[in-house]
Amino acid sequence: MNTILNRLNAVTALATSTILCLVAVVALISYPTHKPSGRVEVHSLQVVQGQAQWHMDRHVQDFVKLQFDVDADFSPLFNWNTKQVFLSLAAQYEGKRHAANNVVVWDRIIRRKGDAHVKLQDANNKYGFREVSRSFENVTSTTFTLKWNVMPHVGILAYGDEARTGELEVPKKVVPVIEEGARRPRPEKMWF
Ligand SMILES: *[C@@H]1O[C@H](CO)[C@@H](O)[C@H](O)[C@H]1NC(C)=O
Repeated sequence: MNTILNRLNAVTALATSTILCLVAVVALISYPTHKPSGRVEVHSLQVVQGQAQWHMDRHVQDFVKLQFDVDADFSPLFNWNTKQVFLSLAAQYEGKRHAANNVVVWDRIIRRKGDAHVKLQDANNKYGFREVSRSFENVTSTTFTLKWNVMPHVGILAYGDEARTGELEVPKKVVPVIEEGARRPRPEKMWF
């Protein structure tokens, strides 16, 4: 019974179990425990009638343009098991069509601890902030959340909220001007 194959089988089975246990331990002890301390501030909101230039949906519709500041240090999220950290800024609001809406308006991937302190001033939204009904007429307010997501080399993904704005009023749409000789207003060309 004690052939070479049998012994090989026993040895690889033991090795596999050992590696699995080690991986589980690594995943457990390197799981990020991060206390949020950053801040995000959205200081300008504007609703315009626009048209996307690169996005698939080229319908003329309402877009919320925003300007925001971020000051947040994510370097505590970097340890020897951190592959990269994914950041996103998302808007949450209540609408008529859907009660709960969540729109990602900006994101960034951080690969090195040296880049982990994020400081942004007067940044614009990177992606279109649109409504399913294509109109923000019945949306009165919104909040923004800065979120992080750690992708480890080994183990499970970790998620957390770093900072949140208060409830911000969504202003009335900027009245589009109709140029002389034109029948309808020309939509603002968006950068996405
Ligand atoms: C907003 O609400 C009003 C009143 O309920 C409704 O008449 C209008 O169609 C709504 N607008 C949109 C874009 O849903």
